[in-house]
Amino acid sequence: MSKEYNISVIPGDGTGPEVVAEGIKVLKAVADKCGFNLQFRHYNLGGEHYKATGEILPDNVLESLAVSDAIYLGAIGHPDVKPGILEKGILLKLRFYFDQYINLRPVKLYEGVNTPIKDKGPEDIDFVVVRENTEGLYVGAGGCLKLGTPDEVAVQESINTRKGVERCVRYAFEYCRKRNKQKKLTLCGKTNVLTFAFDLWERTFNEIAKEYPDIETDYAHVDAICMWMVKNPEWFDVIVTDNMFGDIITDLAAMIQGGMGIAAGANINPDGVSMFEPIGGSAPKYTGKQVINPIAAILAAQIMLETIGEPGAASLIEEAVIKVLRDDLKDIAAGKMGYTTKEVGDLVVEHIERE
Ligand code: IPM
Ligand code: MN
Repeated sequence: MSKEYNISVIPGDGTGPEVVAEGIKVLKAVADKCGFNLQFRHYNLGGEHYKATGEILPDNVLESLAVSDAIYLGAIGHPDVKPGILEKGILLKLRFYFDQYINLRPVKLYEGVNTPIKDKGPEDIDFVVVRENTEGLYVGAGGCLKLGTPDEVAVQESINTRKGVERCVRYAFEYCRKRNKQKKLTLCGKTNVLTFAFDLWERTFNEIAKEYPDIETDYAHVDAICMWMVKNPEWFDVIVTDNMFGDIITDLAAMIQGGMGIAAGANINPDGVSMFEPIGGSAPKYTGKQVINPIAAILAAQIMLETIGEPGAASLIEEAVIKVLRDDLKDIAAGKMGYTTKEVGDLVVEHIERE
């Protein structure tokens, strides 16, 4: 009997459903080709569902997601819902509940894709950000005092645990070794100001580094990383950083790889259920117009297959995407591709079937 995987699908808000539909189409095509089965189960969560029912992420859904092999997520965020409710209640809740402590964000400029960085090409922009995904400023520690008065106080604390930092740093070293490119791991921090949090990060990083003599290590402050990412992106191989800095630098990184339309990410628990998503938002203004680029969602599906143990099928997806980006799409931006969302999915499938 061929292998079977149960994939939970949360299309979510805005353009999420449109891009996820293309990802599923591509997943089905490679599964057929490689001889394994994928069972998809859809969950209706997000802004519309919340507005209609008041429900955000019920416990029975969590229980059901827990027994699947992976979660495939479109986008979360709705213009009629106050910012934070859905993001915290669905996206962050899932990351925390499933202890997906790694947020893996590959940054790769593919041939045929424009970068705003002058004189840099695919050979210069190819690195991976390993973002800690369950601690830091994202834990929601803090509170308000005298809310809404002139004496108001707001506190938001960054929580960093030795265990949390160590497992993230260790993952980054292992990943860097396995990736086997420059074999260089850069810690991105702010040791000159955040002298408690990044002291813990730096000490942990330097200790773990001793176990990886084959990996060159480097350190840069987060502000400097932003500068180097624009000036000398070729310096980076793997970057490891905390949750907040990782959030910020990966939006910058997404721009230098061509845009949100092709930036994919994975929320990984190496011993549990992981979740895969395009890193862009729900893009309300493009919703339902079939103009959004599904490549980020398709590349998220690629990382999913790699992570659940189908690297051959994952490579087929990447090879097909490479061809579509190089030979077919006019531009990767929404509305400028020369094809609809669905047609881009079809092109990827055609290349897979021809391979
Ligand atoms: C991301 C997003 C989320 C984050 C938001 C939507 C909560 O920006 O995945 O990068 O900050 O992690
Ligand atoms: Mn972000």
